[in-house]
Amino acid sequence: MARQRIINGDEAPKDEPPRKPPAIEFRPDDEKHDEELRPQKLDDVVGQRKAVERLRIMLDAAKKRNEPLGHLLFDGPPGLGKTTFATVIPKELGVDFQIASAPALTAPKDVLPYVTNASFGSVLFLDEIHRLPPAVEEFLYPVMEDFRVDIALGEGMNARTINMPLKKFTVIGATTRSGLLTAPLRDRFVNRLHLDFYDDADLAEIVNRNARKLRTEIDPAASAEISKRSRGTPRKANNLLYWCRDYADSRAKGRITDDVAKLALEMIEVDHVGLDELDRKYLLTLINIFAGGPAGLTAIAHSMSCPSDTLEDEIEPFLLRVGFVQRTPRGRVVTSAALTHLGIAIPEPPSQGTLF
Ligand SMILES: Nc1ncnc2c1ncn2[C@@H]1O[C@H](COP(=O)(O)OP(=O)(O)OP(=O)(O)O)[C@@H](O)[C@H]1O
Ligand SMILES: [Mg+2]
Repeated sequence: MARQRIINGDEAPKDEPPRKPPAIEFRPDDEKHDEELRPQKLDDVVGQRKAVERLRIMLDAAKKRNEPLGHLLFDGPPGLGKTTFATVIPKELGVDFQIASAPALTAPKDVLPYVTNASFGSVLFLDEIHRLPPAVEEFLYPVMEDFRVDIALGEGMNARTINMPLKKFTVIGATTRSGLLTAPLRDRFVNRLHLDFYDDADLAEIVNRNARKLRTEIDPAASAEISKRSRGTPRKANNLLYWCRDYADSRAKGRITDDVAKLALEMIEVDHVGLDELDRKYLLTLINIFAGGPAGLTAIAHSMSCPSDTLEDEIEPFLLRVGFVQRTPRGRVVTSAALTHLGIAIPEPPSQGTLF
């Protein structure tokens, strides 16, 4: 029977400075519904065909050789399925599973219980792995490479290191920022899977499956409408589905029809390509305060009173993908496509120093 241990930010040592509260008001896609709708088997995972196919081969080979899966890194924007894949893998393998959030591992002693408890072939999932402190990261190098813990004892002339062998297990890392990973850590992951935004057909499939899980009737046109406005992101699709279901129960007869979905989504100001209030605020800040750019991320974040991490992780990837923003060496620039989308007239090209 698979075992699961979870560590979260609340378990941080008491003598640490108080953590900054999470910027809830700026988190467009909160995670409160994730567990209820998370696929439990690889067969239930929709889309990401390349990643699923590669994973099936890795799992099959590991099972046939009766060896642990090689360390595996998932990267991609929030809400695309990194945690989902990481939780499905140990279930497919029938092995123990431990989860730790990297920011909560402040020193090697925090990670030691996880690696010493890891059974043969089990999975240790390290979420937000780009936020591991350097000392913890260095501690993990011999763990991941040789399944060995190096413990330093004593100081000065008496200093010595003892080695402790570990069982062979698998580290699964997840990150929204693979660029921030150091090369030695990245290189210790023999397998890397990148998750990309989903197409509308896959999102519609996710919406239909989840509506069935929630015992809610939904018309095909309504699931198409929800997926079109979900920014290529399953978590967003789930959140919009929950909202449409509430709306349908409160203002209609419980069935999510096309009209019900459109009215519900209009009410929360998610437009027909999926931009919400925060996306529009970002674009309007760039247009009105920075004359369309180029503007630096920190300057935009200050003007919006919003953490720059939120902008970089949750707002920009989609705006870049739909071509509403460009990242240039001098900063972010709004595109004419964004102006057209917002119904703002495209300025005549000035004689020099153009900003658009
Ligand atoms: N491929 C998929 N098929 C079906 N549902 C999915 C898929 N990927 C994600 N989901 C749904 O989206 C929710 C959010 O996904 P998940 O928590 O795995 O994202 P994440 O990449 O870990 O995000 P974060 O970077 O914020 O941690 C899941 O609970 C699940 O319901
Ligand atoms: Mg996650």
